[in-house]
Amino acid sequence: MEKLLIRGAVPLKGAVPVSGSKNASLPLMAAAILAGGRSVLRGAPALRDVLTMGALLEQMGARFHFSPGDCLAEIDTAGLNRPLADYELVKTMRASVLVLGPLVARHGMAKVSLPGGCAIGARPINLHLAGLEKMGAAIELEEGYVIAKTRGKRLKGASLYFDLPTVTGTENLMMAAALAKGVTVLENAAREPEVVDLATALSAMGARIEGAGGSLIEIEGVDELRPYSHDVIPDRIEAATFAVAAAITGGDVLIKNVRPEHLDAVSIKLRETGASVKKTPAGLKVKAEGRPRSVNITTTPYPGFPTDVQAQFMTLMCTADGTSTINETVFENRFMHVPELKRMGADIELQGGMAAVRGVPALKGAQVMATDLRASACLVLAALAAEGESIVHRIYHLDRGYEQMEKKLLALGADVQRIK
Ligand code: EPZ
Repeated sequence: MEKLLIRGAVPLKGAVPVSGSKNASLPLMAAAILAGGRSVLRGAPALRDVLTMGALLEQMGARFHFSPGDCLAEIDTAGLNRPLADYELVKTMRASVLVLGPLVARHGMAKVSLPGGCAIGARPINLHLAGLEKMGAAIELEEGYVIAKTRGKRLKGASLYFDLPTVTGTENLMMAAALAKGVTVLENAAREPEVVDLATALSAMGARIEGAGGSLIEIEGVDELRPYSHDVIPDRIEAATFAVAAAITGGDVLIKNVRPEHLDAVSIKLRETGASVKKTPAGLKVKAEGRPRSVNITTTPYPGFPTDVQAQFMTLMCTADGTSTINETVFENRFMHVPELKRMGADIELQGGMAAVRGVPALKGAQVMATDLRASACLVLAALAAEGESIVHRIYHLDRGYEQMEKKLLALGADVQRIK
């Protein structure tokens, strides 16, 4: 297992390019199922999850080619003849559930392994399934698989309401609705930029979608869609992670190829800690010096403070000059990084979904273990800020969502190396 050896307390300085969004690329790759032929996704990040989605599509009979050099993913679904997503692949990536809607819409059936829970919570897909059922699919659960069938009929448009603004639920049902007969309305839909990026590509394929980015999305189904050629949006979570890295090391970093408006909530909170966060033509400039001020955050669906940046921000608060409260409202168990941070000297108390973080003067290097994607990012940030040497174990979690993290950090002056 690979790990990262990091010697901390080095201010990061310089410019870092943000890669394409993982959470936009995954639904976009699934959307290629909706149109026979060759779709091209430009700017796709060279991440394990992208390769896993590619492997899933190939297992179904589609052709997938990824050239990391020019960040190009090509998916040709003309030969897709096996609408099945096996447990072996799905267990490594829950976002595989995104093939469900497109497969049912275009092939009339799908057999997709139920994505098990993961470190951060149970993460059910009941809202995805209820929506497909309302659109006319028959849903069965068998030996850990979801089997959805339309029995030769076409999905029909329906009015759907989400109890929670589920991101992949919104994406799955928007894709299914694109080929359904009639109009589908999604109420309390997710408003994330990745949903908007998917809607943009679907519209270029010939779909008729109004309202993406808001809570009410209307999709008028069409008979056929054509392949897309699309530039994926930059990864706002990677950008936010580097912004916090600049703040936590008292550095001065220019984050390039970013849509600043996609991380407004994070920028506002970073400014409250005393960091300077400036939109410039070249990108987002983040500068900080001295101890951050303590700041309270509550994670909520977009455009609120993203749950995917909660662990990173908590790390910044560990050395703040006061006590901060962090309220995690999206997932029920997203504090797995806390015991690891405490091993580095952090003073954190948990009560259910709330964390009280009492700032300490400095974190101390230690051996720590990553448990999930964003927890691994937070431990890297903690090691970058800590006095002394740290080793972050199980960084395969990190490689799922961050392209060449250590190379980007080295370019910013960090003392980091990947060791086997
Ligand atoms: C997406 O996951 C992201 N993944 C997650 O990013 C992100 O943390 C999450 O949205 C929230 O922003 C991708 O886009 C691939 P949800 P998703 O459905 O769609 C509950 C990362 O680090 N829920 O919006 O699975 C669910 O349990 C990952 O890149 C139901 O109850 O999240 C959760 O509490 C981690 N029933 C809440 O809704 C459902 O049918 C939000 O989940 C669906 C969801």
